[in-house]
Amino acid sequence: MSAVYSVDELVKIIETTQAQLKLPGHPALLYSPMRYILDLGGKRLRPLLVLMSYNLFNNDPEQIAMPALSVELFHNFSLIHDDIMDKAPVRRGKPTVHKKWDENVAILSGDGMLVKAYELLENVDDAILPKVLKDFNKTAIEVCEGQQLDMDFELRSLEIDPVTEAEYLEMIRLKTSVLFGFSLKLGALLAGQELNTANNLYEAGVHLGLAFQLQDDLLDLYGGEKFGKVPGGDIINAKKTYLLVKTLELASQQDSLIIVESLNNKEISSSEKIERIKDLYGQYNIPDITMKEIKLHLNNFEKTVQSIGNNRSKTLTEFVRGLAHRSV
Ligand code: IPE
Ligand code: IPE
Ligand code: MG
Ligand code: MG
Ligand code: MG
Repeated sequence: MSAVYSVDELVKIIETTQAQLKLPGHPALLYSPMRYILDLGGKRLRPLLVLMSYNLFNNDPEQIAMPALSVELFHNFSLIHDDIMDKAPVRRGKPTVHKKWDENVAILSGDGMLVKAYELLENVDDAILPKVLKDFNKTAIEVCEGQQLDMDFELRSLEIDPVTEAEYLEMIRLKTSVLFGFSLKLGALLAGQELNTANNLYEAGVHLGLAFQLQDDLLDLYGGEKFGKVPGGDIINAKKTYLLVKTLELASQQDSLIIVESLNNKEISSSEKIERIKDLYGQYNIPDITMKEIKLHLNNFEKTVQSIGNNRSKTLTEFVRGLAHRSV
């Protein structure tokens, strides 16, 4: 294989390593859900970022397949628990773990998956393990903080105490972006890069993560069935998404009232609620505004990657450009 791996080659490495991951058969209700959600696939973006980042500097990404997979296991743990918290029945086009089994099974298999993620980190060289663990722990607790803020925001009154754009961006920085940052940083640390370079990649990852979560908010409503989740789920849960925060910022008092009334209305069906809110988003050009914000963060990502001055960064930047057009 060439020194610079294609995205397909890197995906192969992740798939092979994941297939080889040994999970005991007993107790079945602890391990089957882990295998189930992993086998549903997903984009495997985070381990891909670890491998791409490492491959900016070193030629043998298969050497770090285990720690790269660790990040994917952490992500899947967070999804199992997120789906309980968001009452989501569908993930990756299939029943969520708590729906296929039950909430207790989802809580414990999620916990187990988190431990498995740490177990895979045991494969990191002793020389950098303390540093990697420290960064991983910081990331993991920040994801929890972001998830709690996301839940807190569900309960915030739209009229009395609206979530601001700055608060929203900080919430998604924590729940989503820091893991993207950690993934890119991990690749650099595993490749023996100095902290300055690793930290620049972390920053780039945070920009990418912000763009990614903004797009997730957009696709939640506009992505359709192929997105693999229930369309409009964020509206049903009164999530303070970018779309909602921005609309309330721009809307007339009358339209704001319609939004508040629709979101709180227990008489109308979910689809009616979704249609009413979607109409208003359309009137205020929210999809375009969100897309502009996504582009801004993607530009920041590219600028930060370019500041590293690495002559192999094209695979990474082109891959990320492609994400701007994603539909899953
Ligand atoms: C979903 O992440 C959770 C978010 C942070 C928005 P992905 O969209 O990366 O999920 P999979 O792994 O590809 O299914
Ligand atoms: C999830 O955000 C972030 C984490 C799982 C930490 P969302 O709740 O928007 O993710 P999806 O849409 O369910 O994938
Ligand atoms: Mg959530
Ligand atoms: Mg969710
Ligand atoms: Mg979402």
